[in-house]
Amino acid sequence: MKFLSIQEAINKKKGKVAIRGWIYRERSSKDKRFLVVRDSTGDIQCILKQENIPEHMWEEANKLLIESSVIIKGEIYKEPRSHAGYEINVKDLEVVHQAQKYPITKDQSQEFLLDQRHLWIRSKRMTSIMKIRSTVFGAIHEYFRKKGYYEHQSPTLTPNACEGGSTLFPVNYFNKELFLTQTWQLYAEAMIFSLEKIYTVAPCFRAEKSKTSRHLTEFWMNEMEVAWMDLDGLLKEGEGLLKYIVKKVLDNNKPELEILERDILKLRNVLEKPFVRMTYDEALDILAKKCKMKVKWGKDLRTIEEDKLSQLYDAPIFITRYPKEVKAFYMKEDPENNNVVLCFDCIAPEGYGEIIGASEREPRVEELIRKLKAEKEDPKNYDWYLDTRRFGSIPHSGFGMGVERVVAWITGIDNIKDSIAFPRTMLRYTP
Ligand code: 4AD
Ligand code: MG
Repeated sequence: MKFLSIQEAINKKKGKVAIRGWIYRERSSKDKRFLVVRDSTGDIQCILKQENIPEHMWEEANKLLIESSVIIKGEIYKEPRSHAGYEINVKDLEVVHQAQKYPITKDQSQEFLLDQRHLWIRSKRMTSIMKIRSTVFGAIHEYFRKKGYYEHQSPTLTPNACEGGSTLFPVNYFNKELFLTQTWQLYAEAMIFSLEKIYTVAPCFRAEKSKTSRHLTEFWMNEMEVAWMDLDGLLKEGEGLLKYIVKKVLDNNKPELEILERDILKLRNVLEKPFVRMTYDEALDILAKKCKMKVKWGKDLRTIEEDKLSQLYDAPIFITRYPKEVKAFYMKEDPENNNVVLCFDCIAPEGYGEIIGASEREPRVEELIRKLKAEKEDPKNYDWYLDTRRFGSIPHSGFGMGVERVVAWITGIDNIKDSIAFPRTMLRYTP
């Protein structure tokens, strides 16, 4: 007999089915055993009646603990009172593995669940988040490939910093010091001279000491880099990408969003209108007038300020043209105001923070050298990168989107740690 997934069995509605999975819940009455069995597609209550099955099977069924793996054959039928709408009347039960007593029970602390992460990922909550995460990754690839981008990979081991030296993870590389990459960007900027429009989704590493609900030390970044593109083009791609992702999740993951009790209207809103756009200067104005928060010109926006702004709108906010002092060495100055750079940060709605960082790149080699020196970097270490500005330098732009932050926002969860199966933070590196 061919095995069906639980969802396929439910779709079949009636007749003989064979399923396999894990015991999600179990309870007994005098002569019945109720086993809720789950697989990756759903769960269904399976009922064993003592009178219908051999004695040894009844005994085995009675010993079954949560998370035991089983093969079940029986008759599926409509049962409006059960949560799946269907139940299985079991004719045959095979215990594949009798589980030990499961350590996870109700109402356990976040820390305990993180310690038990290798088991907790089986929960409905984590399974739902991981399904949405998979949709998000798929949507990113689809979006860029449909638009003619090539996928390019940069090395993970690198001699260079790109986003400041303070968050580099050193690696002992045959007694030389290399670093885990903070971003694919420098290599991507070299690669556009070959492929012009490129993207990636790859792990990035930052030795973030902050214990916030938004920072991981290992996270996945979707990055894109495009020859000849300007800030306006970047803004369009950023908005297009985020809307594409949200739409894919709304189309594919209704049941998961329901399990997570996500307010779907808030996500739908995002699709319906243009994203908010403002300059850094305008953001300071709005913060002062509407939120009574004074930010001195030249200071980076902090989390509390980003959160306040995000509360004013129900769509992502693009904040453009930050002061050059607070942004990276590779960002291009605005020719109309050389105190600011041609960049944007995209702030997610509902207080999920910065989800995209973007900029036009400085095309002049002397200017890059000056800025590297200002950051106490030795331009010699960047010589290969500076060649991109020595041999046919062109205007170009790119951005990086923190995938876990996007997943956290879309799923509506309160900590970024749950947007990845095995999170890494300063204090959390097991399992
Ligand atoms: O703003 P960032 O630092 O930009 C870059 O790394 C550029 N090189 C990207 C590029 O232009 N190619 O990082 C980009 C995004 C942030 O907006 C944020 O969403 C995410 O990466 N991010 C993190 N996500 C989780 N944990 C961390 N520690 C993160 N640091 C950045
Ligand atoms: Mg940034």
